[in-house]
Amino acid sequence: MKRDASRKLLAAWLREVGVDYVPARAAAPGGRRAGGDPPGEELDAIRRELEGCRGCGLCKGRSTIVFGTGNPRARLMFVGEGPGAEEDRQGEPFVGAAGRRLDRWIARIGLARADVYIANIVKCRPPGNRVPTPDEAKACMGYLLRQIRAIRPEVVCTLGLTALNHLCGVDERITRARGRWREMDGIAVLPTYHPAFILRDPAREAEVFEDFREIGRRLSLPERG
Ligand code: URA
Repeated sequence: MKRDASRKLLAAWLREVGVDYVPARAAAPGGRRAGGDPPGEELDAIRRELEGCRGCGLCKGRSTIVFGTGNPRARLMFVGEGPGAEEDRQGEPFVGAAGRRLDRWIARIGLARADVYIANIVKCRPPGNRVPTPDEAKACMGYLLRQIRAIRPEVVCTLGLTALNHLCGVDERITRARGRWREMDGIAVLPTYHPAFILRDPAREAEVFEDFREIGRRLSLPERG
């Protein structure tokens, strides 16, 4: 049987027995996933390095770095732009109004914040919540790529224009790019709108719902109402 068909059968059977979501690929014997270090350890090492980072001017204004949060073995990872005031205070990404909206989108596909992983293009707050400059994004990109490699999600969803363009190294319009799958280092990437944009323009939220349905399908999550 083809691998895809057997995965679908397995997903259908798991749903039958009441399992909606399998948060991680099974660990190989010895607690390691084949082909890599345990992702938790790796993320901690990246975090420790980042703590003293002086790679760009944003370090001067930060209260704390905002490393990222969630399941280190997540199948789904979100990448936003950069911390705002509240995130800078709490050290966690997407904790304000935009974060609450993101949580609602995640819940639409039957997941919770703890199931996914959330990080940003830059880990320190840009002053006045301005968009990070290309140099700032570049200075931080190595950390983000290492986070993605450590977690090895099946899907990365970029939130907004900044995340799309910096992570994928493109210069595109989000209105054209959203909802179209692309690939980065063997990982499926789906761009959608940033939740802060949707808070300003709620009429576009239906497009985000469609994007999340796509993500749910890609991860073989059960379709919900
Ligand atoms: N917006 C982002 O892009 N990231 C955050 O962490 C918060 C708001």
